[in-house]
Amino acid sequence: MESMKLLITNGQAVRNAKLERCGIFCDRGKILEIGDLKGKKADKVIDASGKIILPGLIDCHVHAREPGQAHKEDFLTASQAAVAGGVTTFLAMPNTNPPILDCETLEEERNLAVKCLVNYGFYMCGADNVAEIRKAKNIAGVKIYLDITTGDMKVDDPKLLDKLFASYKRIAVHAEGSKVGESIARIKKTKNMLYLCHLSSKEEMEMMRKEKDHRIFCEVAPHHLFLTEEDEKRLGPFGRMKPSLKSKQDVEALWKGIADGTVDTICTDHAPHTIEEKKSAAPPWGVPGLQTLLPLLLDAVNRRKLSLSKVAELCCENPAKIFKIQNKGKIEEGYDADLVMVDMNLQKEVRNRDMLSKCGWTPFDRKVLKGWPVITVVGGNVVYDGAVHDNRGKEVTFG
Ligand code: DOR
Ligand code: ZN
Ligand code: ZN
Repeated sequence: MESMKLLITNGQAVRNAKLERCGIFCDRGKILEIGDLKGKKADKVIDASGKIILPGLIDCHVHAREPGQAHKEDFLTASQAAVAGGVTTFLAMPNTNPPILDCETLEEERNLAVKCLVNYGFYMCGADNVAEIRKAKNIAGVKIYLDITTGDMKVDDPKLLDKLFASYKRIAVHAEGSKVGESIARIKKTKNMLYLCHLSSKEEMEMMRKEKDHRIFCEVAPHHLFLTEEDEKRLGPFGRMKPSLKSKQDVEALWKGIADGTVDTICTDHAPHTIEEKKSAAPPWGVPGLQTLLPLLLDAVNRRKLSLSKVAELCCENPAKIFKIQNKGKIEEGYDADLVMVDMNLQKEVRNRDMLSKCGWTPFDRKVLKGWPVITVVGGNVVYDGAVHDNRGKEVTFG
């Protein structure tokens, strides 16, 4: 698709931890000029009066379910939910069917992702596959499962874990409780980076605060910030995920970790399962999150729980930095034209029927939120403006 010249005027952009009134001119997928751009010609002009412009969100934790589980989700439907939620890039988790354990399956996943409306990258799964990991090209990292969860990829053998933690420069882990400390100890025997997915408890947050350094990072997921174990009682299987929902005290500890800089990213762990699967005798773990992440956070900004620049830091800048995703995460000249315009005053109810994920439900059904994305731009193209428009996302480049 040919990218057109796009001019966004009269908005306020979140830049350098401030709100800046400026025009943004994009061409051939890049941000070319930022400033007072009055009189500049473009194919499309968006008047962003009263709107705030953020860098498009980068979600480092998405289960897009391909290959093999397209009845739950696929790269197209995941990306439709993404653009409606202001997410312009996501990293796809490897617990697919089959899991991404070798370069051939990785290539298969690459071919399936061409229909993705947003930009994307891939993890490889850690198992007894170090030779394949070493051959893999342009991956986000190696994901290692240290607990039982969807896909059954848990690794126990300490010798193999040592090998896996040393196998690639970026290691992401599903680690709960004491496994957090064990992962940190293990990565310290290497020079690699550790990304701890979805920390959910006070104990884990305190461990992280103690151990944090320039190559140990952690993520929290929106369901752990906005729901508690009380909600699990109400939601039943639709409130079940790994790690599970926790107490109010745990949730408060996560918010404290956001405030004091212990938390590096907020990413969704978007893990869709069908309603039938969730209602079955053995419901699988996981909840969708791509479409509701930004509205939940903007609502929290309106309630003074965090600032807009903190949202940009945790959801845009830090993901790009941690995973060394080139040219993304900031509104800067030369960066990719991935942007989201938000209306901080728009109040709307989250509804199952509005969810674009193939699963068609959300644990936040009927929650009223103030602050919503209204226009999403991917690679200089308007891909969401209330309706979803076709686009070709690109595979990101990892440094
Ligand atoms: O709840 C979860 N669902 N946690 C995970 O770790 C995996 C995910 C899934 O793939 O469904
Ligand atoms: Zn996980
Ligand atoms: Zn996950």
